[in-house]
Amino acid sequence: MAPLSRWSAALCTLASSIGFVQADPSAGDYYVHDLPGAPKGDLVKMHAGHIEITPEHNGNLFFWHFQNKHIANKQRTIIWLNGGPGCSSEDGAMMEIGPYRLKDADTLQYNNGSWHEFANLLFVDNPVGTGFSYVDTNSYVHELDEMASQFITFLEKWYKLFPEYEHDDIYIAGESYAGQHIPYIARAILDRNKKPETTSPWNLKGVMIGNGWIAPNEQYEAYITFAYEKGIVQKGSELANKLEAQLRVCRNELALTNSNKVGNRACEQILSDMLRLTQKKGKNGENQCVNMYDVRLTDSYPSCGMNWPPDLQYVTPYLRKSEVVTALHINPSKNTGWTECNGAVGNAFSAQKSEPAVNLLPGLLKEIQVLLFSGSEDLICNHMGTEAFIGNLEWNGGKGFEVSPGNTAPRRPWAFEGDAAGFWQEARNLTYVLFNNSSHMVPFDYPRRTRDMLDRFTGVDISSIGGPPAKSELDGEKLPDTTVGGVSNHTETDQAAKDEELKAAKWAAYQKSGEVVLAIVAIGAAIWGFIIWRARRRTTGYSGIPLMGNQSNGSGSGLEGFRNRRTNRDIEAGDFDENQLDDLHVTSPRDMDRNHYSIGGDSDDDDDDSVAEKGESTTAKGGKGSGK
Ligand SMILES: *[C@@H]1O[C@H](CO)[C@@H](O)[C@H](O)[C@H]1NC(C)=O
Ligand SMILES: *[C@@H]1O[C@H](CO)[C@@H](O)[C@H](O)[C@H]1NC(C)=O
Ligand SMILES: *[C@@H]1O[C@H](CO)[C@@H](O)[C@H](O)[C@H]1NC(C)=O
Ligand SMILES: *[C@@H]1O[C@H](CO)[C@@H](O)[C@H](O)[C@H]1NC(C)=O
Ligand SMILES: *[C@@H]1O[C@H](CO)[C@@H](O)[C@H](O)[C@H]1NC(C)=O
Repeated sequence: MAPLSRWSAALCTLASSIGFVQADPSAGDYYVHDLPGAPKGDLVKMHAGHIEITPEHNGNLFFWHFQNKHIANKQRTIIWLNGGPGCSSEDGAMMEIGPYRLKDADTLQYNNGSWHEFANLLFVDNPVGTGFSYVDTNSYVHELDEMASQFITFLEKWYKLFPEYEHDDIYIAGESYAGQHIPYIARAILDRNKKPETTSPWNLKGVMIGNGWIAPNEQYEAYITFAYEKGIVQKGSELANKLEAQLRVCRNELALTNSNKVGNRACEQILSDMLRLTQKKGKNGENQCVNMYDVRLTDSYPSCGMNWPPDLQYVTPYLRKSEVVTALHINPSKNTGWTECNGAVGNAFSAQKSEPAVNLLPGLLKEIQVLLFSGSEDLICNHMGTEAFIGNLEWNGGKGFEVSPGNTAPRRPWAFEGDAAGFWQEARNLTYVLFNNSSHMVPFDYPRRTRDMLDRFTGVDISSIGGPPAKSELDGEKLPDTTVGGVSNHTETDQAAKDEELKAAKWAAYQKSGEVVLAIVAIGAAIWGFIIWRARRRTTGYSGIPLMGNQSNGSGSGLEGFRNRRTNRDIEAGDFDENQLDDLHVTSPRDMDRNHYSIGGDSDDDDDDSVAEKGESTTAKGGKGSGK
């Protein structure tokens, strides 16, 4: 008995060391086999999970990747980021551009304007601590360059796992405070490409920013101009005077910092005062304020939009379901439930030493395409601010949308499927699209229109795919055909066709080598004569069968090996990790763990607090998270 148990102890040790050696996950570990509540039929091909960024601080970024439905002329990847700082990109995945939307907390339905039609989608909860991402609470990110450098680390590791996407055309898209993140990440990618040690440059082609927080100067000014325009505040009223006074304080502070800051508290107060002072009593006597993401709507004070959009009531419980957490491979170390916006991450992200992203745009516009789009009804990052800063911006040898001295690029009216959708304006690599009748989260309101915009911007050519083109016109002029829905051949079928082709090619190769072998055999036969002719088994052997055997053996053992490795590892890692975890749980007090990654979001109490905080936090976009 004793030797046997010693043996098994030794085996256990061996298994554990194998477990540790194999701790690096492979792509298969991220495969999403099943997504609870998904509609019947083919599941979109998905991978999800954590990538370790800063092991010394337990920093892990969560990603959710959706494979494109079709490949139109080339492979594209859209990296999508939501704002905050500290708001999860699962907003984008589940309420905006992703393949699925929630009908209720349990049921997914297809989004017929999903951006995955012709592009792979990579959603990342960025920076660490946001959404499903996590990090030690004393190691949140503070500055934009630090965020960008961590993001590059993420991409390096991600492309190691998924090299098949590394040569895609890359576009970084997102909204709100990601208007700071995106240009910084784009800059970091372009700089990385230029380093001599970079063996695999990334094909960054463009960025797309919706209602972005990009240029604080003009955007702070635009709170009041927009409020006048929309009748939220009456020009000349007492309230207007109060807000104008605050704007003067704001301007003075900006002057002191040479307008080179991402956020300013005195300036943010313009918005928070506006929301507070325009409150009205609701039907049930509750305080209602303007929804800062869609001024046609109201919300309870002080949320003022943090409870919006309506799908959020389903997204939060859905992403906290244990089946969903398991399906998305959320690490056990992430022991607090998903929250849309993490106030602690937002607070820490002060960006005190970072210059605003608008300063990076002229440099980016020399190398890539930039598209800025705005929903017309958003207050917090409203279109007037965006238009104002574009007007002041100098890039590629001109200022604003001037195309020649005194001539401005025209605003071209855009009609989508017969409706007045907005307008497009373009000059020197910068495109601006205004969406009529839309909120801060344009793809939430108009998924199909944003898809049409995406396909035009990324140059999707559907001529090789088929499907009825969408009716989309600029200046009444028909645009090149793209399609929003209705494509018949899928990537899967394309892939199957490719596999067939590959198989056929392989066969041809085998047949050819078979012929060569036969030729050799024939020569051999001529030389060795009679004896060889009698050794029929050998001839038969040479005439292709061993090759076939090798082939099936080869691929068989390869597959087998893969499967075995996975199964073995799963069993070992599963058993062993569980023990390990138990140990950890025994040795480290649960509370400590909780505090470790706590984001004030597990219990309902915490939630209420954090919502309240987020409500107040409209005061500080640069400080606390608020822009989704
Ligand atoms: C797309 O979905 C929206 C909302 O569910 C629906 O109103 C619309 O008719 C759908 N369009 C198409 C082309 O299926
Ligand atoms: C616009 O961007 C392209 C790359 O997309 C670049 O080659 C070109 O030089 C840029 N145009 C200008 C005027 O800088
Ligand atoms: C919407 O956009 C169209 C251009 O397509 C424009 O003519 C129209 O005035 C806009 N409508 C509203 C309500 O802003
Ligand atoms: C504007 O959007 C709302 C929904 O947000 C919709 O009910 C309304 O029909 C839209 N108006 C126009 C003119 O498209
Ligand atoms: C996709 O379908 C169209 C017809 O709708 C066909 O002409 C085309 O060859 C197909 N493409 C591929 C790659 O199978």
